[in-house]
Amino acid sequence: MAHISASDLTLEEKASLTSGASFWYTKPIERVGLPAVMVTDGPHGLRKQREGGDHLGMGDSVPATCFPPAVGLGSSWDVDLIERVGVALGVETSIENVAVLLGPGINIKRSPLCGRNFEYLSEDPIVSGVLGAALVRGIQSQGVGTSLKHFAANNQEDDRMRVSSDVDPRPLREIYLRGFERVVKDAQPWTVMCAYNKINGVYASEDPWLLTQVLRDDWGFEGLVVSDWGAVNDRVAGLPAGLDLEMPSSNGVTDRQLVDAVAAGTLDEAALDVAAQRVIDLVEKAQAGAGRIAGPLDVDAHHALAREAAGRSIVLLQNEGDLLPLRRDAKIAVVGAFAEKPRYQGAGSSMINPTRLDDALTAVRGAASGEVAYAPGFSVAPAATDDEQQTLRAEAVAAAAGADVIVAFLGLPARIESEGYDRTDIDLPAEQLALLDALLEVTPNVVVVLSNGGVVALPFADRVPAIVEAWLLGQAGGSATADVLFGDVNPSGKLTETVPVRLSDTPAFLDFPGEFGHVRYGEGLFVGYRWYDARGLEVAFPFGHGLSYTTFSYGQATASVGADGDVTVTVPVTNTGAVAGREVVQVYTSRGASIVQRAPRELKAFASVALEAGQTREVTVTVRRADLAYWDVRVDRWVVEGGAYAVEVGASSRDIRATATVEIEGDAVSVPLSRESSLGEVMAHPVAGPVIQQAIAQMMQGMEGVADIMPEGVDPTAMMASFPFGRISMMAGDAATPEMIDGIIAMANAPR
Ligand code: BGC
Repeated sequence: MAHISASDLTLEEKASLTSGASFWYTKPIERVGLPAVMVTDGPHGLRKQREGGDHLGMGDSVPATCFPPAVGLGSSWDVDLIERVGVALGVETSIENVAVLLGPGINIKRSPLCGRNFEYLSEDPIVSGVLGAALVRGIQSQGVGTSLKHFAANNQEDDRMRVSSDVDPRPLREIYLRGFERVVKDAQPWTVMCAYNKINGVYASEDPWLLTQVLRDDWGFEGLVVSDWGAVNDRVAGLPAGLDLEMPSSNGVTDRQLVDAVAAGTLDEAALDVAAQRVIDLVEKAQAGAGRIAGPLDVDAHHALAREAAGRSIVLLQNEGDLLPLRRDAKIAVVGAFAEKPRYQGAGSSMINPTRLDDALTAVRGAASGEVAYAPGFSVAPAATDDEQQTLRAEAVAAAAGADVIVAFLGLPARIESEGYDRTDIDLPAEQLALLDALLEVTPNVVVVLSNGGVVALPFADRVPAIVEAWLLGQAGGSATADVLFGDVNPSGKLTETVPVRLSDTPAFLDFPGEFGHVRYGEGLFVGYRWYDARGLEVAFPFGHGLSYTTFSYGQATASVGADGDVTVTVPVTNTGAVAGREVVQVYTSRGASIVQRAPRELKAFASVALEAGQTREVTVTVRRADLAYWDVRVDRWVVEGGAYAVEVGASSRDIRATATVEIEGDAVSVPLSRESSLGEVMAHPVAGPVIQQAIAQMMQGMEGVADIMPEGVDPTAMMASFPFGRISMMAGDAATPEMIDGIIAMANAPR
């Protein structure tokens, strides 16, 4: 097909092309032979509505493999595994003739209360960015597109279509945008989906700074920006700001607004050409890929991959006395409704209609050689009464009598966490905690298996020997859980978010979800572990934590700076136990005395490494120089501070096993001097500094009294360091006239 140019289209056609035809389709322009393409959710499977589905897009969808949602998959910290899952997602997308899978979502988990945390990867931008890029690479390798979402600072569901996320420049760049930047630069998603919310008062869907300056000019994004569904507030403002495609359909209303605006001269037609061309380019790219892979889908192979991925998503939080793995011949009591009816994905637009569904009870029964007792123990029905819960509890206690070990499947009922609203606490339901207390009376050998999309408080952690965080694991989560319980899979997942002791310890506690349309990101840079570490707070389980059925020892780490400025970190890691396993080696950096505020340690790179029992591998991890940079608000750009950096290699953020130091050459930053500059800044300036220091010394000689009012041993200029340069003539008189001050400023700022 010949390449179509926006200039081949009429004004009306261009306007119509830049909004959807329906919930999931773009508009065809038959006159020039441009077809419509379909986009669908995502992200952990394909949610393609059957033909003739309801226009709201909520109806039944074609069965597809439900892989673990991001909360699970991310816990693998494994780029290769995630890329393989991406490939499988791409295959399913192509088979179903869909152009773009609407994901991944990589927003930062700012608060554990966010109802959509199950769809996001981490509280850390490097984890989110690196793993998000792996998903995009995998999916797009199959000739179909992705939609990196929700751009940006969409960190809560409460008031999500209106709230302004009020974020300072440093946290915005260093925490909330850094992951997006990584994915855009490394993987070029075909599309980016702008968020519903405002950022610092401006709707993401009409923010030229966000959609053009940052995304395209700074990061080099080459694809198309699509609105989140219904995120367009003012299309005529949004289009020139960088919003190319409004979704879903606006029934022609906003198309007409664009045409009228061009006619009235308030919208430059050239901006419409650009957006229309991007839609054309997307359709043409999709035509080459979507539908290229012939079905039918290999359901078994993808289910097997979903099982592998789910096994790798599980985080073994605690395993006192090696209660796990279970002996196959142990007398096992399985308790908890989630064992029979798994909670395996979150609610909302990402809900997949799975090709099949494994439950843990069947899988445990299949793996055990003895009899396995079962009782639901609680009901998740909203209408269940206390009496009913008590009866279920008593039945579970009876079923567990005489068991060697009880495996208790606890978790959050589906209604507690969903797209569209947030949680109000992080507690497990009271009837489940009461059940656990009752089970611990039967035997102390209790394994808790958790099903939850957002972290939950674990007030029982000191009484329960083994805790398995099984998140939401997708359609094969049940069998994958049994794989881990019996040791067929050695757990290797690690937390990509901190499990706090209590909600009131969490960084955004006082500023979530905001009020009157504004949420202030008052914790600034201190999101997730950055906060707990800076405040020295105890946590239930730290970021990066996760146990294995084997143990790993770390040797001496070395770190060196390459010609490109990247830091190569090498450390030997040995599997010191009796079984094969995987370790996620994490590299953090810190700067003791920095010129800017910093978290005590920040993750910069990581690697997932497979090790046979007894095997040692030299693990090499690269820290990119760009990831050492902070956002300098004085010059509005990234700056790498020069000096010594501690490189910490750990098994978690609070289990540092090896350290090294590297000397980093800093970026030159030249901040222009002004009358507002402090005397201290002027004195530190390479050109103005010597001049002014000499002048001050002379001035001091004439001001004998100054020394008298300073404590002994203090340099008198210390008192004046914060004095604005432009105002010293008040004190210095003829020794520093306004003209002299301006002269020094001009000399200092002159190009060198
Ligand atoms: C969600 C997006 C989703 C879209 C289409 C929106 O409400 O925020 O993540 O892709 O709907 O279903």
